[in-house]
Amino acid sequence: MDITLSVIKADIGGYVGHSSSHPAVLEKAQEHLERAQREGLLIDFHVTRCGDDLELIMTHQHGEDNEKIHKLAWDTFMSCTEVARSLKLHGAGQDILSTAFSGNVKGMGPGVAEMQFVEREAETIIIFMADKTSAGAWNLPLYKMFADPFNTIGLVIAENMHSGFSFEVHDVLEHRKVTFHAPEEIYDLLVFIGAPGRYAVKGVYHRPTNEIAAVSSTQRLSLMAGRYVGKDDPVCIVRSQGQFPAVGEVLEPFTMPQLVEGWMRGSHHGPLMPVAVRDSNPSRFEGPPRVIAAGFQLASGKLVGPRDMFDDPGFDEARHQANEVAEYMRRHGPFEPHRLPLHDMEYTTMPQVMKKLEGRLTEL
Ligand code: F6R
Ligand code: MG
Ligand code: MG
Repeated sequence: MDITLSVIKADIGGYVGHSSSHPAVLEKAQEHLERAQREGLLIDFHVTRCGDDLELIMTHQHGEDNEKIHKLAWDTFMSCTEVARSLKLHGAGQDILSTAFSGNVKGMGPGVAEMQFVEREAETIIIFMADKTSAGAWNLPLYKMFADPFNTIGLVIAENMHSGFSFEVHDVLEHRKVTFHAPEEIYDLLVFIGAPGRYAVKGVYHRPTNEIAAVSSTQRLSLMAGRYVGKDDPVCIVRSQGQFPAVGEVLEPFTMPQLVEGWMRGSHHGPLMPVAVRDSNPSRFEGPPRVIAAGFQLASGKLVGPRDMFDDPGFDEARHQANEVAEYMRRHGPFEPHRLPLHDMEYTTMPQVMKKLEGRLTEL
């Protein structure tokens, strides 16, 4: 059975501040998607949130970039924004960069990850959703899942994974893309994806079948808006088991709380902390950045789940380490490398300060 899984998300207002989501907003989204399911547009759906981000997980048979599905998400975000406005939630409508829908939500503020595939005998899916960070945050975990045998032993000992995976990498500044084949091109691949502010892994494909294995949202909100409007708070869909990494191999990269861009005012480096959905409320210095993982089995497009995959004491040590790293990074205050490098500050205060100091800057 041919299924499309669409994950479309937006921050349409935070409760309290940017720390979490209000239940009334989630209820409104639930209402919209229930109606769409009754009318036959969706096979199934799940509404959740990561911090202040509203996440719409939808299955259907209309393919990627489908206008009806994108319109549904858009209308849902618009009416959730109304709820946010009525409660005077903070930043109501934050990710809605335009009010005129023109067929696709891409480039309009929301983040999108979609994949179309033939549902396997058992189709195991993990959906990662993050808050207070940006699109490149998936580079390191996707590399570990699909290219690092120290993480994924299946690459070594499972016959159906031994040919490796291909990585489609997007240059989010220049809007170009390139595909690398792992394992033979991992050094070239790492030159690019080791710079996650510019190069983001968009998709991963199984070799030699070219079956889709993972897809991420790579929209960079600040680049679309031309100014700082919050971090992307990206999502990523990963297929698991069989010819893909096992669930444990998919989750394992998150035991390392990697440093990512985001956190307070989207202008800091901080550790990515894997948490249960109920704990995705970034409050300490509006962080540290969070990631949640919703696990599903698909049954003819029905979302059997979710299982809250990071709701496991096995990730306690990662959370503990994340807190230690957070504490250490915080002690740098406004200094790099806790604060993002100057180049990234160009979307925020730097231009204004430079303007103010014009005339006072003299040649050495
Ligand atoms: C980071 C984030 C917050 C806000 C901060 C200021 O992604 O959303 O850290 O940047 O709370 O928010 P405003 O400007 O809305 O008062
Ligand atoms: Mg927000
Ligand atoms: Mg957010």
